[in-house]
Amino acid sequence: SKIYCRTQKLWGSEFKDQLPNIDFGKVLTDDKELYEWMRKLEIYGLVLLKNAPRETGQLKELSKRVAFLKKTHYGETFTVKSKRDPNNLAYTGLKLGLHVDLPFYSFAPGIQMLHCIEQYEGEGGENDFSDGFYVAQLTKERAPEEYKTLETTPIDFWDVGEDVIKFHKVIPIYMFGTDNDGELQRVTLNQQSRDSHMRVPLEQVTPFYTAMKNYNDALYNNSIRIKMEPGDIVCFDNMRVLHGRTGFKMNQSGSRHLEGGYIEWDELRSMQNVMKKELNIMD
Ligand code: OGA
Ligand code: ZN
Repeated sequence: SKIYCRTQKLWGSEFKDQLPNIDFGKVLTDDKELYEWMRKLEIYGLVLLKNAPRETGQLKELSKRVAFLKKTHYGETFTVKSKRDPNNLAYTGLKLGLHVDLPFYSFAPGIQMLHCIEQYEGEGGENDFSDGFYVAQLTKERAPEEYKTLETTPIDFWDVGEDVIKFHKVIPIYMFGTDNDGELQRVTLNQQSRDSHMRVPLEQVTPFYTAMKNYNDALYNNSIRIKMEPGDIVCFDNMRVLHGRTGFKMNQSGSRHLEGGYIEWDELRSMQNVMKKELNIMD
């Protein structure tokens, strides 16, 4: 028997035409819209907020409606802009493969937000999203042994450098993290911070790479691609939905500027309950 009943609805590429979007200003001022945003985030793991002011600080305002931002070693929020001497691949114009953020945290941030302040006008700079739980389910049906491999092979994820503080994080984790009932609860994939050295017997290495490659391909086959507009804030479940971006050429067609930040699921679920009671919502 489950102690926590899932309300999630899984999706593939068809989701592109169904992507929930809500007005940012309304979420800030109207409790019903706040509740809708949180509920849809829980169900679909991906919601687009529209018409936010095109300046930094909006994620902090949004987080105050829930609780507060989760701090990480990249700060309370982080700036995604191509910079000289970048300490993260995100701070270049290069492609980012589908990934989750901060896989080297044992309690990785539950919800991620990216606020588009300035968008690259030329070709590129689009965002990909894929439902990691949906594709894991496909994997289980198509190749149960590959599912098992991703559930049982420990992989080290690491991040070393300096931002607001010096950091050197490294943890082993299974790409398919499950709860006590064997139910998938966290997907971890990030080629930028995956250690290429593995702590498993040699004969487990090739099967792992095969399973990961097939999972990665299936993620792309079932993904959606959108180009955010300035004023958009995309919010997604960092335990479930993978995100990436297509590359773009720096110093042509202007610059691209996003602000990123995180909120915890515990806080968001809590505020969802508060709102549900205050608004007398039954379901
Ligand atoms: C990130 C990231 C995407 C983008 O910074 O975590 O994935 O569109 N950025 O730049
Ligand atoms: Zn990212």
